[in-house]
Parts: sequence; structure tokens; C-alpha cells
Amino acid sequence: MTTTKNYDIKDPTLAEAGKQRIEWAYREMPVVKLIRERFVREKPLDGIRISACLHITTETANLALTLRDGGADIILCASNPLSTQDDTAAALVESGIPVNAIKGEDEERYYKHINTALDHKPQLTIDDGADLVTTLHSKRSELIKNVIGGTEETTTGVIRLRSLEKTGKLKYPIIAVNDAQTKYLFDNRYGTGQSTIDGITRATNILWASKKVVICGYGWCGHGIALRAKGLGSQVIVTEVEPIRALEAVMDGYQVMPLLEAARVGDIFITIAGDKNVINKAHLQLMKDGAILANSGHFNIEINIPALESLAHSKRRIRPFIDEYALNDGRHLYLLGEGRLINLAAAEGHPASVMDMSFANQALSLEYIVKNRERLEPKVYPVPEEIDKQVARLKLNSMGIEIDSLTPEQKEYLSSWEQGT
Ligand SMILES: NC(=O)c1ccc[n+]([C@@H]2O[C@H](COP(=O)([O-])OP(=O)(O)OC[C@H]3O[C@@H](n4cnc5c(N)ncnc54)[C@H](O)[C@@H]3O)[C@@H](O)[C@H]2O)c1
Repeated sequence: MTTTKNYDIKDPTLAEAGKQRIEWAYREMPVVKLIRERFVREKPLDGIRISACLHITTETANLALTLRDGGADIILCASNPLSTQDDTAAALVESGIPVNAIKGEDEERYYKHINTALDHKPQLTIDDGADLVTTLHSKRSELIKNVIGGTEETTTGVIRLRSLEKTGKLKYPIIAVNDAQTKYLFDNRYGTGQSTIDGITRATNILWASKKVVICGYGWCGHGIALRAKGLGSQVIVTEVEPIRALEAVMDGYQVMPLLEAARVGDIFITIAGDKNVINKAHLQLMKDGAILANSGHFNIEINIPALESLAHSKRRIRPFIDEYALNDGRHLYLLGEGRLINLAAAEGHPASVMDMSFANQALSLEYIVKNRERLEPKVYPVPEEIDKQVARLKLNSMGIEIDSLTPEQKEYLSSWEQGT
């Protein structure tokens, strides 16, 4: 019998370094650890084939090992060409989990890797941005008959899946892990907040104090980035298209204005809207000489890079992750990480402590899908509330924090309408 290689990584000799970093991250993932210990005993995913398209980070490695220990036969590919940690990929391959991901891979290889993950004939899919699920639905639909269900990790992926559902073309149930409160309130806010600042700092070594930082999009990620930039002494300007979010930003103490105005004054621009051409040619034309542009949203479409190219006569890589564009009018603009999510391109993504909660939701949602496979329909489902609450409880326990519980009298009061003034 001949077997073809089902993994593709940069360098297997990086495995030892990756293994140590995976161990380091695991220290901060007590909830995943508890789930893993139970999965070892109960094997809830016994024999289930999983194809996972995720950022290949040390935290993802701990999720993959947990699912493997729960009995799953898992293969991984990258959910972004620049987010892979090559040592982590090598360590996973050494531990028997095939990985298809190389930091800096081109688009052709990126999709080749997704297709290799799909060759695994998944019964469960895990996605971050929905590239795997959309490839499965559009180009590999013959494989859908095997699939029991899937999970989606991020806002942009959930938006794409809801659109697929609306057209009636979604073929199996998917749980929107992003929409669990124990995911977006922590991962999107504190995770993206800290790691975006970390990525920009590592790429540029700029001083944040006194800088005018323009944050485009005030969703949960935008909240976190604004909070952290403010904490470092930046003057934060928020741009939005939704009036309630804009109002919230005003009351949170930030300046709010249209991007055409902010473009003239900003020192650093961060897109985090999950939208296309948020920073467009008209904005680029107004920016100050030396302005820095970074994106932390899922895809590299938030900054109109072709427009930037069209305004420039030359570009050079002045530091790793910084491209200096020399514009025809004499200004210079600096694009970080090729416009890809900067926290994963130039730093290590979210700290393990928040991924602990996101990935606990992943593991428990996958177990839920397998247990409830007979009654789930081809829809986008929320994470069941009991899972969300369980993750919060376990996280609090791991921190040694106890909380109060309702007295019988309070329970009755809170469920009645009779008692008033
Ligand atoms: N970098 C990471 O590690 C990471 C982590 C989590 C989520 N994400 C991604 O970040 C993006 C944002 O996620 P979120 O959870 O904050 O989403 P969200 O939907 O809660 O917030 C996005 C906000 O952007 C606003 N917006 C949309 N178009 C805009 C425009 N043209 N100008 C200004 N504002 C605009 C929306 O009104 C909304 O308030 C998504 O692509 C998501 O997948 C990245």
C-alpha cells in the first residue's frame, strides 16, 4: 500500500522549540486542560475525522491535542497565510497530527492546504473565517455527505455562514463559537485589544503615548484596541457606520468623526471592521506623511492595498512587517504585515488565557454536535447557553474566584411580576 504525505510544513527540525512553546501556552489554558482530562477518559469524539482550518498557534495546538485525546482523527491547515507559527506546526506533526501550513505561503498553496485538509473526508469541520467551509460547499461538495457538523471561530466567518444559510445553501449544522459570550467578550475584546497593540509594537517599536490612533470599527475587537491604546497614552479616534456603536465610543471617551476627517490627523490607523476598503483611496490621499496603516480584521481587504499601490512609485521593506510606500506626491505611508491581521502576522495572536475560553467552547461545541447529531439541522446555531456558562464557571474556578448564588427568595422575586413598589 502506498501512502501520500498528508502534511506540509516549513521545517520539521523546529519541533522541539514548538513543543516547549505549546507547553508554555498550556499553563494558561486550565479550562481546556480540564476538558482534555475528561476527553481522555470518555473519548467523546472516538473515531471522528476532523478537518480544522485555524491559525496555527500554540493555543490551537493545545485544542488539536485535546480533540485527538478525545478520540478524534484530526488534520489542520492554516486560516491565514501569515499567521502560522512554523515551530508549532512542526511539533504537531511530530506528535502525529498532520498540519498543512507554512508562514508566508502564497494563495495557491493556502488553498492547496485547505484541499489537503478536506481530502481527510471530515465528519466535523472547524473553521476560522469560513474558507474551508466555503471551499467544501463550492468545490468539494461531494464530501458534504460525510459531514455531521462544524464550528466557526470568528465574526467574519459567522457573517459568511449566515449568508450561506440565508441562500438555503448551507448543507450541515454549524455552531457559531464566535457568538458565545465567553468568546467575544474576552477573545475579541481583551485578546484582540492586547495582541493588536503587541503586533504593531513588535513591527514598529513606536511609542504609543501622544500618538493619534484611529480605530476603524467599534465592535468588540475595536473596543479592546481602543481601551489598550488609551491606556498607553494615545489619543484615540473612532470611526463607525453604526450610530449606537458610535455613540458608545463617544461616551467611552473617544473622539468620533468620519474617516475622511480622521485621515488628515491620524498617526496610526487600525482597521477592525470586518469590511472591505474601509480605508480607501480618498483616505490614503489625505493622510499625513509617515502615517502607519495596520489591519486586525480577518481578511486583508480592509485597507485598499491596490489603491495604495496605485498612488506609489515604489515600495521597500524597511523592517520585517513594514512596507514603506513612496507616493508620487512625496509622502510616505507605512503598511504593516501586508494588511493581514497584524496580531498574528507580527506577534503571536491572542494570549493563551483568552484562547482557553474560545477553545473550550470549540471542544464542547464539537462534543455537543456529535451527541445531538440526529436533531440538528443545516443551520447556524448559537453555542448552547449551558456550555457558555460552564466555560465561565470553570474559568472562574481556575482563578480561585467564587461568586454568590441566588437565594430561593431572590429566585422567586426575579421570576415574578406581582411585587412592585
Ligand atoms: N485579529 C484577530 O485575532 C481577530 C479576533 C477576533 C475577530 N477578528 C476579526 O475582526 C473583525 C471585527 O470583529 P468584531 O467581532 O469586532 O466585529 P463586529 O461586527 O462586532 O464589529 C465591527 C464593527 O465595524 C463597524 N464597521 C463596519 N464597516 C465599517 C466601516 N466602513 N467604517 C467604520 N466602521 C465599520 C461595524 O458597524 C461594527 O460596529 C472581523 O473581521 C473578525 O473576524 C479578528
